[in-house]
Order: sequence, then structure tokens, then C-alpha cells
Amino acid sequence: MSYSKVFEELDKSQHDRALFDCGEKELNDFIHTQAAKHMQAGISRTLCCGFGVLPASVPLPNQKYPICSFYTIAPSSISRDTLPQSMAKKLPRYPIPVFLLAQLAVHKVFHGSGLGKVSLIKALEYLWEINAHMRAYAIVVDCLTEQAESFYAKYGFEILCEINGRVRMFISMKTVGLLFV
Ligand SMILES: CC(C)(COP(=O)(O)OP(=O)(O)OC[C@H]1O[C@@H](n2cnc3c(N)ncnc32)[C@H](O)[C@@H]1OP(=O)(O)O)[C@@H](O)C(=O)NCCC(=O)NCCS
Repeated sequence: MSYSKVFEELDKSQHDRALFDCGEKELNDFIHTQAAKHMQAGISRTLCCGFGVLPASVPLPNQKYPICSFYTIAPSSISRDTLPQSMAKKLPRYPIPVFLLAQLAVHKVFHGSGLGKVSLIKALEYLWEINAHMRAYAIVVDCLTEQAESFYAKYGFEILCEINGRVRMFISMKTVGLLFV
């Protein structure tokens, strides 16, 4: 089985949300029931990828396509006081705009296949493009588990603070830019 590297906006009529299972209930519940509603409400955007190669990319009996992975982004802000002193001192005291990588998950049949890395790079690339039009200081992610923390640390995310019992990590847009310029 292979996955597509093309990410498209979640579409209830095209993507089968119910079958997605990444092994984490909170993320499963999000894609099953909330992601589309949040897009409709205008508070976040979810992009997902499906299977890559025919015949695996034929639709299910319900005429929808399975989701192999997805990520969700939203605008957000942080206080400069949560940043390392060296960064904070160059910033104003009002809320600092950031992009929130609110969700990222891979269907469990694809765990360990490189799709997590592909999904994260696609999310960073997409946010880098948005940053050309509307600037943000960094990308933040609130880690659900220690494993998620190790995953993001691997790609240069650093610990920022703890929020609602989760470890919040960040990567500056300057660092992200090094990947894409
Ligand atoms: C975390 C997750 C997205 C990783 O996806 P994946 O497709 O299994 O990861 P990949 O195969 O792309 O692995 C990329 C790299 O990260 C590493 N990695 C993968 N899962 C990891 C984990 N749990 N902890 C530490 N490193 C991990 C891999 O070893 C690999 O490193 P390598 O390139 O040096 O071999 C996936 O396991 C998942 O969806 N988990 C459940 C949801 C979740 O926790 N999401 C994060 C929410 S905050």
C-alpha cells in the first residue's frame, strides 16, 4: 500500500472520516466529528492525503476515499514571556502571532512508513507559503504524548512551555524558512 503525497482540503463528501484510526482516541474523534465542523465555523483548516496508487485509490463502497493522514492548522498567538529570553527581548509585549499545528496524525497502517515526516513537511511548507502573505513568528504544537514530543523534537521543534497539561513545542518561521528557500 502506498500513500499520495498530495494533500487536499478535507471534504466530507469525498473523504471517509469514519475509518481513520491513528491509535489516539482524541485525534480519531477530531477527524471523525470535529474537523469538518471547525472548517465550516472558519476556525481551522484540515488537509489530508489518501492512497497513492491504483487500485488502492479506488473509492470504498460508500464512494468515499480513505484518509491516510491529515493535519490541521489555525492561527494563534503566544505571550513573549513563554519564549527563550534571547528571542523575547526582541519582541513587543502584546500577543505574538503564531501558527498552531493543531493536529497531525497518520493512519496506523502507515505508521513507520515515512508518512508522518511527509505530513509534517507538507504542513511546514504550507504554513511557509501563508507566511509570505501574513506573517507569524513561529509554529507551535501541543503534544498529546511523549512520543509526539520526540517526533517533533526530531524535526527541530523546541519545548516552549506547558499548557493544559500538554508540552507546547515551537519552531521559528526563520528556521522553517531555511528548509524552503
Ligand atoms: C507521530 C506520528 C505522526 C508519526 O508518524 P509515522 O508515519 O509513524 O512517522 P514516520 O514513519 O514518518 O517517522 C519519521 C521519523 O520519526 C520517527 N518517529 C516516528 N514515530 C515516532 C515516535 N512515536 N517517537 C519518536 N520518533 C518517532 C521515526 O523513527 C522516523 O525517524 P527516522 O526518519 O530517523 O527513521 C504517528 O505515529 C501518529 O499518527 N501517531 C498518533 C497521533 C499522534 O500522536 N500525533 C501527534 C499529535 S501531537
